[in-house]
Amino acid sequence: MAGFAHNHLLGIANLEREDITTILDAAEAFINVSRRPVRKVPALRGKTVINMFFEASTRTRTSFELAGKRLSADVVNVTGSGSSLSKGESLLDTCRTLEAMRPDIVVMRHNASGAPHYVARRVGCSVVNGGDGAHEHPTQALLDAYMIRHTFGTLSGLKVAICGDISHSRVARSNAALLNKFGSEVRLCGPRTLLPVAAETLGAKVYADLNEGIEGVNVIMLLRIQRERLEGALLPTMREYSRKFGVAQPQLDRAAPNAIVMHPGPMNRGVEIHPALADSERSVILDQVEAGVAVRMAVLYLLAKDQRGTSPEQAAAMGARSAES
Ligand code: CP
Repeated sequence: MAGFAHNHLLGIANLEREDITTILDAAEAFINVSRRPVRKVPALRGKTVINMFFEASTRTRTSFELAGKRLSADVVNVTGSGSSLSKGESLLDTCRTLEAMRPDIVVMRHNASGAPHYVARRVGCSVVNGGDGAHEHPTQALLDAYMIRHTFGTLSGLKVAICGDISHSRVARSNAALLNKFGSEVRLCGPRTLLPVAAETLGAKVYADLNEGIEGVNVIMLLRIQRERLEGALLPTMREYSRKFGVAQPQLDRAAPNAIVMHPGPMNRGVEIHPALADSERSVILDQVEAGVAVRMAVLYLLAKDQRGTSPEQAAAMGARSAES
């Protein structure tokens, strides 16, 4: 098994191509665990994972919880409103308090960019970034990469258009970083007011016209408008946005004939994506959700250090034998 020499998963930026391939290969081994009648393997028995979600989440939080449980870890969930943060305890004191309970891995989502990095420097356990502000969402990019590699057999030489509210999107940043490492062309496409200053520094071509941006691409990745992060009047109206940047069949027809439509969710049907397209055969949105559990199993497994002697394939096979007996 290729090694994974990291204590934390904080972003895509500090991963090598080989690290990413190791995670995706491990996810390939784990995806079948979720398709069995008994969806559990003993790989992380005795390990503890704490999910600390200080921002709303459906997909990331649930899939990390399922990933931990399907690996037989003990999983605890902490939210901002249900924790003593709401009584004025600092983030660091909260993390140190939880660290004293000896978790092996903390998964953290926070609205401040860099919050998981701050915590990782101060605690002894592994930290996984479950999304920090507009900075990074590494496991989303990894599950997106899983879907792209599964569909096209490669992460290299493809054209990927990421369309929508790029300024506020940690998903766009992590995906651009990952796809750049593998030599795919990344296009960032959105209204000028929702493109970051110096967007080219993300290693992408920038388009303020949707039709130009998606011409001939293999992947259209749609993003919602992050209304909760919008400051001031960056958009005229949602109707106007949808008219210029919403994707339906006529826009998809401009992409490559085998192009797929992706969305990290949550999606706003009828705004950035036409409902019929979201439910069409070209959409892999729910496949992304399934891949998310497998990728998060891979991440937890690879960070649990004393499991490194056993390959993900062996760990998944152990579960199959247990399920049969
Ligand atoms: N894609 C994503 O992060 O979704 P959630 O906010 O529901 O976790």
